Amino acid sequence: MGRMLDVDDLVAATANLFLTGSLSGKTLVITAGPTREAIDPVRYLSNHSSGKMGYALAQAAVEAGAKVKLISGPTHLPRPDRVERIDVVSAQDMFDACHAAVANCDIFIGAAAVADYRPASISSEKIKKDQQDSLNLQLIKNSDILASIAKLPNRPGFVMGFAAETQQLVEFAQEKLYKKNVDMIAANNVSSPEIGFNSDDNQITLITSTQVQELPRASKMALAQMIIARIAEEIH
Ligand code: PMT
Repeated sequence: MGRMLDVDDLVAATANLFLTGSLSGKTLVITAGPTREAIDPVRYLSNHSSGKMGYALAQAAVEAGAKVKLISGPTHLPRPDRVERIDVVSAQDMFDACHAAVANCDIFIGAAAVADYRPASISSEKIKKDQQDSLNLQLIKNSDILASIAKLPNRPGFVMGFAAETQQLVEFAQEKLYKKNVDMIAANNVSSPEIGFNSDDNQITLITSTQVQELPRASKMALAQMIIARIAEEIH
């Protein structure tokens, strides 16, 4: 705000305005980052997602000419240029924001690491550690955002999810493809710290009902561009 962009960035952004990209005229809703499930006013349950993969997808989609809403859990990343970002905290917030944003959208991508469970009740006061040597938390299942979007009667034309797996990558991702009724799933190998959660690089296999396409290990930005190109092929 108040400062001119770096000249190279300014030229790239201006040039993009005149591109008729592969997703020109399409609207996307993309989820990114972790969710936080409150335990009490100072503690929460979360995971290691940085938001980098979802933000890279949002940027690649905008560069391909799409209009993008990015529904983001708490991250330290700047909003990608020309992307509308909606900030959320918990899985329930993300669920509500996705359902509010998805009407009339063409493509939905669930790249967020949504907490599968949340504490059954949130203590209104800070839980004091000197009153107890152990603490039992009862957890209840969060609604599945991706599956709920894919189930809508007027669902987006193309729905894509991710499957973060440490073993039997393709097999477990295929199960999620069918169970959640999505058009494509990115099986994301998260077994090592150099790829997957909170890394700059990633390793992904794209799976549809008819094809398994292993993408090369690459930066999240390069992979996002490959994924967006593949989605454009699928919808055209
Ligand atoms: O954010 P980064 O640090 O860049 O890391 C990227 C990533 C590893 C988080 C990302 O590439 C990734 O794999 N995201 C999905 C993580 C995940 O929660 O996977 P899952 O296999 O548990 O879930 C399967 C799918 O269901 C995902 O699309 C997820 O967004 C969705 N889901 C899960 C639970 C839930 N309650 N609602 C959902 O929509």
